[in-house]
Amino acid sequence: MVKKVAESSAKSNLQIDSTALLYQSGFGNHFESEAEPGALPKGQNSPQRVNRGLYAEQLSGSSFTANRSENLRSWLYRIRPSVLHSKFSNYNQGLWRGKPFSEDFTSPEQLRWDPLPTPSEPTDFIDGVATIAGNGDSASWRGCAAHIYSINKSMHDRFFYNADGEMLFVPEAGSLRFCTEFGDMDVHPGEIAVIPRGIKFQVQLHERTARGYICENYGPPLRLPNLGVIGSNGLANPRDFQTPVAKYDHADGPNQLIAKFNSRLWSTELDHSPLDVVAWHGNYAPYRYDLSLFQAVNTVTFDHSDPSIFTVLTSPSEVPGFANVDFAIFPPRWLVAEHTFRPPYFHRNMMSEYMGLIFGVYDAKEEGFVPGGGSLHNCMSAHGPDADTFARASAAELVPKYLADTLAFMFESSLIFHPTEFALKSELLQPGYLDCWAGLKTNFSKE
Ligand SMILES: [Fe+2]
Repeated sequence: MVKKVAESSAKSNLQIDSTALLYQSGFGNHFESEAEPGALPKGQNSPQRVNRGLYAEQLSGSSFTANRSENLRSWLYRIRPSVLHSKFSNYNQGLWRGKPFSEDFTSPEQLRWDPLPTPSEPTDFIDGVATIAGNGDSASWRGCAAHIYSINKSMHDRFFYNADGEMLFVPEAGSLRFCTEFGDMDVHPGEIAVIPRGIKFQVQLHERTARGYICENYGPPLRLPNLGVIGSNGLANPRDFQTPVAKYDHADGPNQLIAKFNSRLWSTELDHSPLDVVAWHGNYAPYRYDLSLFQAVNTVTFDHSDPSIFTVLTSPSEVPGFANVDFAIFPPRWLVAEHTFRPPYFHRNMMSEYMGLIFGVYDAKEEGFVPGGGSLHNCMSAHGPDADTFARASAAELVPKYLADTLAFMFESSLIFHPTEFALKSELLQPGYLDCWAGLKTNFSKE
C-alpha cells in the first residue's frame, strides 16, 4: 500500500515543469507580480474594467481596521471571480477535524434569506424574535447573534431584560416605542436603538406591525470607532446620539418579567411595574441614533475605501482593530470615483458578514436582497456583485451619481457566524442564491 502511494506520487512529480522558478525576495513585503504584461493595474486597485478582461478581487488576511503593522491584504486579478462555484457539500475525510467536534458544523456556503412574514397570531416582541445566526459564547463575553423580528402586538403586563448581551435594534418596518427603566424612546425605520445589557424594557408598536433586525452583542459594549486620520469629526458624531429622560410607572398589579440568561429565556412574576425609576444618573443607559446623520466618508478620487469607513459602532475584541462585532451602514451617498468599478468589488474576507437591508436597493445586488431579508458571507467565502450588476457597472458612464434609494447594514464579526436550524430549514432560505453569480463570464484574453 505504501509503495503504491509512493509510485503514484512519483508519477505526478514527473509532470512538474522543470523550468527554474522565479521568486520575489523578502518577508512581509508589499509584492507585485504579473504573468502577462499589463495585467496588473497601475496606480489603483479596482479599475472599472481590468486589463485583459480580468476580474478584480480583494483577499483580506486581517480585519480592515487592523493596525497598519498587522494589516494584510492582496488584490488578485483573475480570469474568473471566486464566487463561481457550485454548492458546498460535506466531504467526509474522516479524521481531519476541528472544533466543534460534532457533526453539527457550519458550511462555508453563501446564504440569503427572505423576510419574515407578518405573524398570523397576535405576537409581541418576546415571541416574535427568530435567531438567524450567532457566534462566540454569551457566557464568555465574546461574540454576537443576528436576530430578526416580526411582531404585531405591543407588550402588555410584561417586561424583558437581557443578561447575555446588549441589544442593537435596527427597525426595517414599523416604529417602536421602548419603555425602559431610564425612560421612553421612539425609534423609526432608519434609526437604531441600543438597550444595554440588563436594562429592563418593554416594546410597544406605533403601527399595526413591525419588523427588523437585532444584533445581540455578547462582547464589550458598542462604542464609536476611533477616527484615526479622519480627525475629530465625521462618521457618527457623539452629539447625535440621544438618551431618554427619567419617567416612572407607579402601578401595582401582576406583571411578568422575562430574562434572557445563559442563552435561555426565564420568566418570573412581579406585583408591580419594574419601570419605577423616578430619577437616575450615570453613563450606562439606552440610546438611539438617526442613521441619516451619519457623515459618510469615502473616495473623492478613485477606488474604494474599505467598508470599515462606514462603521457606526464597534464592539472591540482584545486584539486592536479586530472587532468582536462592527455595525456598519451603506447609506445614500454620492458616487464620484473615476475610472473605477463603483459597486462593492469581489472579495474574500477574514471577517464574517451578516447583511440586511432597511430600505431601497443595495448597489451590489439589484435583485433577491430585499428589505427585511438578509445574507451571510462567512470568513473567506467569496462574494461580490451579481452578474447583472457587474455587467452594468463595467460599462456605466462614470458621471457623479447620487445613490438615493438605499440603506443597507452589516453586522461584521471576527468570529464565524453559525446559522440556526431555523435559518437553514426555513422556507425563508433562498435555495438559488449562488445562481446570482452564474452569469459571470470568462472575458480573459492574453492579447
Ligand atoms: Fe462583503
